[in-house]
Amino acid sequence: MAVTEQLHPALLSFLKAQPKRMLIDGKWVEAVSGKTFETINPATGEVLASVAEADREDIDRAVKAARRAFHGTWAKVKPADRARLLHRLADLIEANGDELAMLEVLDNGMPITMARKGMVPRVAELLRYNAGWATKIHGETIETSVPGEFFTYTLREPVGVVGAIVPWNGPLVTATWKLAPALAVGCTVVLKPAEQTPLTSLRLGELILEAGFPAGVVNICPGFGPTAGAALAEHMDVNKIAFTGEYTTGQIIVKASAGNLKRVSLELGGKSPDIVFADADLEQAVPGTAWGIFRNSGQVCCAGSRLFVEQKVYDRFVSRVAEYASTIRVGNGLDPSTQMGPLISQEQLDRVTGYLRVGQEEGAKAVVGGERLTAGEMGKGYFVSPTVFDCVRPDMRVAQEEIFGPVVAAIPFKDLDEVVALSNNTHYGLAGGAWTHDVRKAHRVAKALQAGVIWVNCYTVFDPAMPFGGYKMSGYGRESGVHTLELYTQVKAVWMNLG
Ligand code: NAI
Ligand code: MG
Repeated sequence: MAVTEQLHPALLSFLKAQPKRMLIDGKWVEAVSGKTFETINPATGEVLASVAEADREDIDRAVKAARRAFHGTWAKVKPADRARLLHRLADLIEANGDELAMLEVLDNGMPITMARKGMVPRVAELLRYNAGWATKIHGETIETSVPGEFFTYTLREPVGVVGAIVPWNGPLVTATWKLAPALAVGCTVVLKPAEQTPLTSLRLGELILEAGFPAGVVNICPGFGPTAGAALAEHMDVNKIAFTGEYTTGQIIVKASAGNLKRVSLELGGKSPDIVFADADLEQAVPGTAWGIFRNSGQVCCAGSRLFVEQKVYDRFVSRVAEYASTIRVGNGLDPSTQMGPLISQEQLDRVTGYLRVGQEEGAKAVVGGERLTAGEMGKGYFVSPTVFDCVRPDMRVAQEEIFGPVVAAIPFKDLDEVVALSNNTHYGLAGGAWTHDVRKAHRVAKALQAGVIWVNCYTVFDPAMPFGGYKMSGYGRESGVHTLELYTQVKAVWMNLG
């Protein structure tokens, strides 16, 4: 069956207009170099579109446009009107939800149910939540004790031009995590989508123009990390970089930011523990821990990739998770019955199958999965089976390194103190999960885990009002919630001598 036959008509016309151009100063333009690159459907290995490839000069033009808009048109837009624009964009996201979801499936590979029922509503809600903040940002008046008569207050001002560098695992959601608060507070943005998944960001650009955002407020420049990404991170007129991706890239960005000491927030990876106590509701914990790792083929920064299970129930629980994993329907994300799609790329396939090999060489045993899937149409794409590793020692590479694939390392534990120590034995600190009916255990674990997000009797739950971000080498800064506003604003102290 030709995949194109199932596609939304609006999506077909979007894909027909090629090469896809980048958005700078309200106009769709080619790269200065004229270069393009191809983006691939990871379910089939087929080229989806060729896309204008931004490099240093394009980024510079985009930053200049963002700077002009920041001090010009955008500065004149009142907070309530910024809120209105964000609400209009949220409405357009919903109105075009079928098409956007399909486009994300084609470019990223995620299952359509996840894209349509998870991603699209989440993007719309992130826009609406942040729209609400636009009219609620304010400074304070502050009483000081200096001699004389003073009127002292603070202004909370937008930080300026924001560079948003986002990954491929949740293209539209990670972009919106940055765009929505930045725009709500009055910043302008240059967005660099991941080279693997530029398409939904470009479609978002069309909707941003349709919503009525002035030219230059949002500029969208697809390109590669070491060229376009680095140019943005180094740019002397960018005030802030908001980044999501690998921790080693985060380190490069921090160094690149030193030139003008721009602000940086980093949402990096993890090796998050998901802990099952013997008293847990196992009916809930089996699918809960399974989807904690297998969702989006394990390509989730906060995936519960280390499954710690209390000794008493270890064998029974791990075999049930393995059994559950074997029922997960893997396939092309466009098929509504698909529960798990392909990995993003050949590179990622090599990385994950490399870890499957390393795990087995180190002595871990795949009780389910452990290999690439090539049956039928899958041979053309980048599919691997959901994998549960048993016989894992905590110092093995598969228990320490972020695999970013559907691979979980199961490890038994004796008691709470031991599992907390094991859980915290990592450079990462993004998330953690615990399954138990004992309220004391739950609170003790929540407090003891060195991680930015803790889920008890649930996993990977999100809401625009709840902050998200890492401890340790999982990054700094919190996205979502009220804390996100601090990333995009700065405080000015004003002293008025009235004497
Ligand atoms: P990456 O960190 O290289 O890519 C993320 C974004 O950073 C992309 O837009 C990329 O173009 C950009 N980038 C890359 N190098 C850059 C540079 N020197 N300067 C500025 N921007 C740059 O991640 P990659 O290589 O695509 O994935 C590799 C591994 O990273 C994955 O297997 C996974 O372990 C981890 N990862 C974690 C993510 C998360 O959500 N925490 C997301 C993506 C990847
Ligand atoms: Mg990379």
